[in-house]
Amino acid sequence: MNNSPIGIFDSGVGGTSIWRELQRHLPFEDMIYLADSKNAPYGSQSKATITGLSRKNTDWLLNRGCKLIVVACNTATTNAIDVLRKEYQVPFIGIEPAIKPAALRTDTKKVGVLATKGTLASHLFQTTSKNHASDVEVVVQQGDGLVALIEEGQSDSEVTRNLLKSYLEPMLEADIDHLVLGCTHYPYLIPTLKEILPGKVNIIDCGEAVARQTARVLEKENLYNRKDRSGLHYFYSNADKRILEGFLADSPVPVTIEQIDF
Ligand code: DGL
Repeated sequence: MNNSPIGIFDSGVGGTSIWRELQRHLPFEDMIYLADSKNAPYGSQSKATITGLSRKNTDWLLNRGCKLIVVACNTATTNAIDVLRKEYQVPFIGIEPAIKPAALRTDTKKVGVLATKGTLASHLFQTTSKNHASDVEVVVQQGDGLVALIEEGQSDSEVTRNLLKSYLEPMLEADIDHLVLGCTHYPYLIPTLKEILPGKVNIIDCGEAVARQTARVLEKENLYNRKDRSGLHYFYSNADKRILEGFLADSPVPVTIEQIDF
């Protein structure tokens, strides 16, 4: 099992922000990334649909021999990871909005969370907020439309900038000093966010924490790759593969990108 690849899935290209951290922290691991762009966005779909899509993605990756699955999607994690962990034998690493570090660091006692409707409505998000941010005000905002704009390559367009401004306005009025990015697509908005947000607002994204947790689990389960060479990276998309090619054009390592019927 050690030399098998790590499987990663997302509703589209967003999880490549997590893959970048995984590759940086685990350079010897082979990785297979599945972008279910055809079914994006997940964020506006029901828990049952998100769970069904997550199962389908997991089956696809396990059929390719993956030893561990990284659910590189907040919406899939918060709605489906409990079911996946019950139904499958392999370890799962998930990602959810990093509300705990934001609540610990805030001076104004006000933090913003930008995430999908599915993530904000999930039981896991509600519980995490209650358990770790009960003494701060959490200003939440659904990022409706952002995933589609990012998938279209419009991360820094005028339309995206105006939509972001309207989403951030209530948070800034509430005096937040931390903004939690609760969707793996959103790190691609950081340059635009930095132009809009005042300098005192810290942006929190937990891609690196996911990579560190993956390393801990590989260690604990004795699953580290023992090959003496750099990892190989395969990307598959069930939509136009040029979208992934665009997002990976600056990849620090060679990648193979294929379009599949899935
Ligand atoms: N990257 C997914 C997430 O982290 C996007 C969700 C969607 O497709 O709406 O939530």
